[in-house]
Amino acid sequence: MQSDAFLIIARRDICRGIPQRALWDRKVWTVTLHRRSLRRYDGQVAVVTGASSGIGRSLALTLAERGALVIGLARRRSLLDQVAAELSRRSPGSATHVCDVADADAYRDTLARIDDERGGIDILVNNAGINLMLQAAGGEDATVRRVFDVNFFGAVAGTLAVLPGMIHRRRGIVVNVSSDSARAPEPRQGAYAASKAAVSAFTESVAHEVAPHGVSIHVLYPGWVPTAMGLSGNEDGGSLPPRMVRRTVDGVAALVADRMGGPRIDINAALLPLLAPMARALAPIAYQKSMRRLATTD
Ligand SMILES: NC(=O)c1ccc[n+]([C@@H]2O[C@H](COP(=O)([O-])OP(=O)(O)OC[C@H]3O[C@@H](n4cnc5c(N)ncnc54)[C@H](OP(=O)(O)O)[C@@H]3O)[C@@H](O)[C@H]2O)c1
Repeated sequence: MQSDAFLIIARRDICRGIPQRALWDRKVWTVTLHRRSLRRYDGQVAVVTGASSGIGRSLALTLAERGALVIGLARRRSLLDQVAAELSRRSPGSATHVCDVADADAYRDTLARIDDERGGIDILVNNAGINLMLQAAGGEDATVRRVFDVNFFGAVAGTLAVLPGMIHRRRGIVVNVSSDSARAPEPRQGAYAASKAAVSAFTESVAHEVAPHGVSIHVLYPGWVPTAMGLSGNEDGGSLPPRMVRRTVDGVAALVADRMGGPRIDINAALLPLLAPMARALAPIAYQKSMRRLATTD
């Protein structure tokens, strides 16, 4: 029997991008918790890595819409050209450049050039990421190094390159994109989860150090988002993650644009994964069993 009762109340900003009809069908009722005007970044120079697709693309466009001069970086030129056209429409002067963040020297040079040309970098989002599966039996450490080069050392190189300028100017924002895999590593995610745990620990440590200098540095946990990466674990048509952690690129981008520069280090798009460390502490055997089930069902 169909029930008329709404079962889920969700924040409207997080559900942005999901058609109202789809929310209605799933009995999701959206509410605005804090009605306030959108945070603007007029004239601020924002660099977003991994801007050619997914979360990075949406974040770049959102920041441009909110007045920032956005420089999007990634490797795929053809996609970047499309993003550049959309950025310029929203914020003239914005641009994209080809840059492989796994090449730390090239990434630092690109940031230095942007800093010179634009008179400083106000915002850096280290979003570029890859996810390579690691089989415990027969896996190679080269896989782990490759993932760390992009996900961790790329974010480290970028962060350390922009912080001196930000500290000198006594303002600036860095967002490093982590993952809930860092909190609850699943089977075959050894490389990815470890790289994201490293991103979280690095960012949190640095955040404490730079906060007194007027610089905000955040860790973003996007939940699960149906991007190329998000869907890559679902190519065989397996089940999607629980609804409670599913988000959209636009919802995550809006959340970041609203929250960054605020007092909290962590930006959590979904709250359910925060329970994982608690479950591990309170019911370790049950937790382990549920994770091991993933090893056999995936
Ligand atoms: N989707 C999710 O559910 C989810 C959940 C948690 C965390 N995340 C994180 O969110 C971030 C964005 O991922 P996504 O979901 O939006 O996936 P995506 O659509 O696959 O985007 C990944 C982006 O990273 C760029 N990239 C990869 N390697 C790069 C490199 N060496 N140098 C420069 N750019 C590089 C890609 O561009 P090019 O290929 O053009 O270089 C692409 O723009 C990643 O850090 C990911 O780990 C995603």
